[in-house]
Formats: sequence, C-alpha cells, structure tokens
Amino acid sequence: MLKIGPIEMKNQVVLAPMAGVCNPAFRLIAKEFGAGLVCAEMVSDKAILHKNEKSLSMLYVDEREKPLSLQIFGGEKETLVEAAKFVDKNTNADIIDINMGCPVPKITKCDAGARWLLDPNKIYDMVSAVVDEVDKPVTVKMRIGWDEEHIYAVENAQAVERAGGAAVAVHGRTRVQMYEGTADWNIIREVKQAVGIPVIGNGDVKTPQDAKRMLDEIGVDGVMIGRAALGNPWMLYRTIHYLETAELLPDPTPREKIDVCMIHLDRLIKLKGENVAVREMRKHAAWYLKGLRGNGKIRDQINQFETREDVSSTLYAYIEELEAKMAEKSASVV
Ligand SMILES: Cc1cc2nc3c(=O)[nH]c(=O)nc-3n(C[C@H](O)[C@H](O)[C@H](O)COP(=O)(O)O)c2cc1C
Repeated sequence: MLKIGPIEMKNQVVLAPMAGVCNPAFRLIAKEFGAGLVCAEMVSDKAILHKNEKSLSMLYVDEREKPLSLQIFGGEKETLVEAAKFVDKNTNADIIDINMGCPVPKITKCDAGARWLLDPNKIYDMVSAVVDEVDKPVTVKMRIGWDEEHIYAVENAQAVERAGGAAVAVHGRTRVQMYEGTADWNIIREVKQAVGIPVIGNGDVKTPQDAKRMLDEIGVDGVMIGRAALGNPWMLYRTIHYLETAELLPDPTPREKIDVCMIHLDRLIKLKGENVAVREMRKHAAWYLKGLRGNGKIRDQINQFETREDVSSTLYAYIEELEAKMAEKSASVV
C-alpha cells in the first residue's frame, strides 16, 4: 500500500494536482470515486506570504477529502520555507508537496517549478530547509528533467530522499516536452530503483490497464492520474476496481455523467458563487461530454453558459435527445 511518512492511503491511486481543476469541488468527487490520495492545485509561496485572499482560500481542505496533499511553488528557499510553515500550522492538509514540474515560462523564469530540476544540490538545500521547519511530511512532484540533455531524475530524487523528503512523484516528461510526446516510464523505473522513499509514477496513465502496468512493470508505489480523470472521475473508480479485482467496469451512462457534472457544479457554486462557478464549469462540461455522440452540437452553447439553469437545461435536453436516439436504435436492432 502507499504510505507517505505516517499517512497511509487506502489504495495506490492518486489524483494529480491540476491548476484550475483540483479545488475542493473536484477533489471531493475524486475522493468519493475512491482516490487513495488527492492533490490540490499549486499555490504560490509568495501569494501565501502576502496573505493574498484567493491563494489563502485555495488552502481550504474539507475533512472528507483527507488524506490530501497541498502543493506550493516558488523559486527561493526562504519563501518556500515560510510558506510551508504557514501550510503546516494553518491547514489540515496531510502532506506538503513542492512543485518541481511546472513547465510554464511565467513560473520557470522565477526559478520555480521545473527550473529546480537543473540542480540537485539546490534541491537538497531547499528540501532539507523545509523538512527541518515543518511537522507534516514533505514530498516533491517533479518531471524527469529539463530537456533531453539534462535528465537528472535519479540525482534529484536522491537529493529529495537525503534531505528528508517523504516521497517523490515523477512525471515521465521533460520540461521542454510540456505535455507533448510520450512519458518515459523507464526513467521512472530508474528512480524507483535508486531511492528507498515511495515513488509515485505519473504520465500517460489513460486506462485502468495502464495503471496496472505502471504498478507492475515499473514497480512504483503509487500511480498518479491527471488528464484521464478530467470530466471522468469514473476513471479513478474503474482503476481501483480493476487493480483490486481484474474486472473492467463499464463506462458510465451519459445521464450518470451529467448527474455528476451537476454535483460538481453545485459544489463549485458553493465555493465560488454562481457567476465564477458557471464560467469555470464550461471547460468541465466539455470534458464530461467527451466521447458522447453529437456533443459537438452543444459546444457553442457550453461556451455561453452564464447560469446554473443554462447548464442544467442544455445538458439534460442534450441527454434526453441522446437517450431517445439510443432507444430508437436498440428498438430497430430488436
Ligand atoms: C490542467 C492541468 C493543470 C495542471 N496543474 C498542475 C499543478 O498545479 N501542479 C503540478 O504539479 N502539476 C500540474 N499538472 C500536471 C499533472 O499533475 C500531471 O503531472 C500531468 O498532467 C501528467 O499526467 P497525466 O498524463 O496523467 O495527465 C497539470 C496538468 C494539467 C493538464
């Protein structure tokens, strides 16, 4: 089982941290669909220290989401340490994670995110300073390297371990790859073989079978799922069930997808108010509808959602039409 410091997860499936996605509304759904550990979206260390209201609200954790990992990012040891101390003392998160994977130039040009990957000594120095100052376990989420010429995944993970880090999550891409190409799982295996702390494998786990391969063939302690769970928390549930029983559960019905989409929206409304929530929901609605027949027809309507009523009436009207077509088709087969 996956155990990070004293925190024991009930399974090996981890929801990846995703900015703009992994707030309490979606994290709770992921938890209800069985995720052993959920990770929150990254929060800026400096914004925490400046008591930025929006950033502080991103540190909110619902008891039902636990165990949960809160992620901070920054490019300087001193501010990361202070932000980690704040998270340690003022939140009920179980784990403090440090982002060393974000590839976005706005972040890396401040020496944050994936920029750390170029210097294992700097990683050691920073992580040990954080570990010294906090009680919660400290983990690092990293990419395998900066570019093909600078793949220091093993050295970087060893630096985290020596510094007292409790686990590493490794996304099998370089910073230069962004989200393109394929994740290199072989390097994740090399990391697993080189350190004693738990290693969570990440990148391109698109199906329950991929998750099993990651665990069996790469030997990691946990498997982290990101994009495949967008609009599809069933991916988490189906993966956990498959790992436990080798049975592949069917995909949800279109109506089930919309029902969960509406639960998601209602939780977002509670968190952020209808105006912001509905706008944020536009991208999620498109993800929930992914793969459903004829969904292109309502794409434009999704992008104009303003109210909860817009979302609900459009999505359920679409589903009713889809269900009628499916019933017609099965009647003609009989
Ligand atoms: C929309 C989006 C937002 C992301 N935000 C974060 C983030 O805040 N922190 C982080 O460490 N990784 C972030 N990631 C990277 C994911 O955690 C993960 O490493 C990556 O998507 C690869 O996993 P996957 O192939 O399962 O999607 C983000 C990815 C996506 C798609």
